[in-house]
Amino acid sequence: MKISSYEEYKEVYQKSVDDPEGFWAEVGQEFQWRKPWKRVLDWNFDEPNVKWFEGGKMNITENALDRHLEENANKPAIIWEPNDPSDEAVTLTYQVLYDRVCSLANVLKKYGIKKGDRVCIYLPMVPELAIAVLACARIGAIHSVVFGGFSAKSISDRINDAGCKMVITSDGAYRGPKVIPMKETVDHALESCPSVERVLVLTRTRTPVAMLKGRDLWWEDEVKYVEAKCPAEEMDSEDVLFILYTSGSTGKPKGVVHTCGGYMVYATYTFQNVFQYEPGEVHFCTADIGWITGHSYIVYGPLCSGATSLMFEGVPTYPDAGRLWDIVDKHKVNILYTAPTAIRSLMSFGLQYVKDHSLSSLKKLGSVGEPINEEAWHWFKENIGKGSCPIVDTWWQTENGGILISGLAGITPEKATYATLPLPGVQPVLVDENGNELEGTGVSGNLCIKFPWPGIIRTTYGDHERCKQTYFSTYPGKYFTGDGCLRDENGFYRITGRVDDVLNVSGHRIGTAEVENAINMHLGVVESAIVGFPHDIKGQGIYAFIITERKPAEPEMMRKDISATVAQIIGPIAKPDKIQFVSGLPKTRSGKIMRRILRKIAEGDVSNLGDTSTLLDPSVVDEIKAGAI
Ligand code: WTA
Repeated sequence: MKISSYEEYKEVYQKSVDDPEGFWAEVGQEFQWRKPWKRVLDWNFDEPNVKWFEGGKMNITENALDRHLEENANKPAIIWEPNDPSDEAVTLTYQVLYDRVCSLANVLKKYGIKKGDRVCIYLPMVPELAIAVLACARIGAIHSVVFGGFSAKSISDRINDAGCKMVITSDGAYRGPKVIPMKETVDHALESCPSVERVLVLTRTRTPVAMLKGRDLWWEDEVKYVEAKCPAEEMDSEDVLFILYTSGSTGKPKGVVHTCGGYMVYATYTFQNVFQYEPGEVHFCTADIGWITGHSYIVYGPLCSGATSLMFEGVPTYPDAGRLWDIVDKHKVNILYTAPTAIRSLMSFGLQYVKDHSLSSLKKLGSVGEPINEEAWHWFKENIGKGSCPIVDTWWQTENGGILISGLAGITPEKATYATLPLPGVQPVLVDENGNELEGTGVSGNLCIKFPWPGIIRTTYGDHERCKQTYFSTYPGKYFTGDGCLRDENGFYRITGRVDDVLNVSGHRIGTAEVENAINMHLGVVESAIVGFPHDIKGQGIYAFIITERKPAEPEMMRKDISATVAQIIGPIAKPDKIQFVSGLPKTRSGKIMRRILRKIAEGDVSNLGDTSTLLDPSVVDEIKAGAI
């Protein structure tokens, strides 16, 4: 199933378009199924309805764990590098991981969790996070991992949307020099979550926490009294595996739903091909398991391949900006998969943090999460890859389950800032505003995918109509990505960024409407508008234009207060970088904010604001221009 030359890629790609079902059936054979599927694919993009390998019975953990035990029981499955480099790293072999997953699965069962129940996981990057995810999958419970940086309010919104019965968390988390409370945040969240019956608490920082009798349980105590064997629940390929919340251009975050069979096949196939994984290699993905990248390329893709996956608890700049390179040398990392924002940040500290490292174990580099700029790409190539490691720029989304457009490391040609080519089974099309397909090369448009791949979103949890409206209605018959894209003369794709009201801040997707709603909840705020602006490290920064009831007496203090409100409602990642108080916003006569104008002002490009004649009150533009930060 691994492609080994550019010629072969072209052949396989063609086959995957000519006969998608035949192609994916062949890939599907590589996995362990209890019962074969009845039908490879059933689909329409109108409802939408997509089913892969329907009737196939399986459990993803049998593919991620059980099937490696015979030959690779003592092979490292997870290497865990703690936040503090003087603490010891931990290696979990496939056997140990299997035992721990089974034990925890038995704890979940003991407290009444069964197939189809939703479990919220709010944990730092410790091995128990992967264990919790797999324990849910083992018994057919649906995991909903919430990134450890989200606020109590964000957690409770997600718990309530999914109706979670249990929360798995820790007392606290280490993040660089900081200790962050986790259980306390969960306690605040649970003040408004009636569906939650039990909270399982892992000890990590031994921060004092309130433990409520009848509700809260210590992880360490519970796993002592259960068996380390737990039969895997038999799942249909189309049973739900997990929900992962992500931001869109409107309203509250939506729960993206992925199912068992197709997701497994797609995450694993792309892991092996994009990174050209060779048995024995150590794979280090620096993402958090709270995001899709961690789900697919720390947990499921690598483990279903029997690989060694490195999990890092801390941050790239602690204790200093050489930490990632220390880890690479210490654990002889072969594949490093990270984000442009991390590369730019480490670049800014200078080469002295790189130079004392050998980095000679590295064979392949990957980038994900946002467009990578030319400078960061070359810095990564020359200084980290020493000129000899291929870089794969992997484009995809939470809704996709796995990478859609990317080179195959060392196999297909690379071009800085280009994600390059679609993976087998992926049929990208560029469309203009009116939905016409743009043929040929040297064209730009909105990126759509016209045929399903096994990892595609099945629905948005509890609201199928929303899934249809968001992804399948803008251009009927096509999945719309929300990204702009260029296809060059060679047919290589370059993602140019979001074309909707979604920002990408340090590789995190942030909906402008969500941030505006949070700001508008602050005392004294009348209205706000959020736009992105180019930021050297984060890629995009958040610029807020805010109308207040009264002119703030202490504007600097009010800025801090507003940021605190946003941190409390969403999380620190959504705090604005710049806040400008204004007396009005540029609106059309129909009351729509003209973000185009605000974007230009935020970018510092005020010379040509385009046509402002349709504005209700063009004079506000001059005021905003004059007060720009
Ligand atoms: C952006 C992350 C350019 C894009 C896996 C997409 C990228 C959004 C790339 C999804 C890339 C991701 N080049 N842009 N290689 N990878 N993006 O759901 O705008 O957190 O729509 O998934 O990130 O973000 P998400």
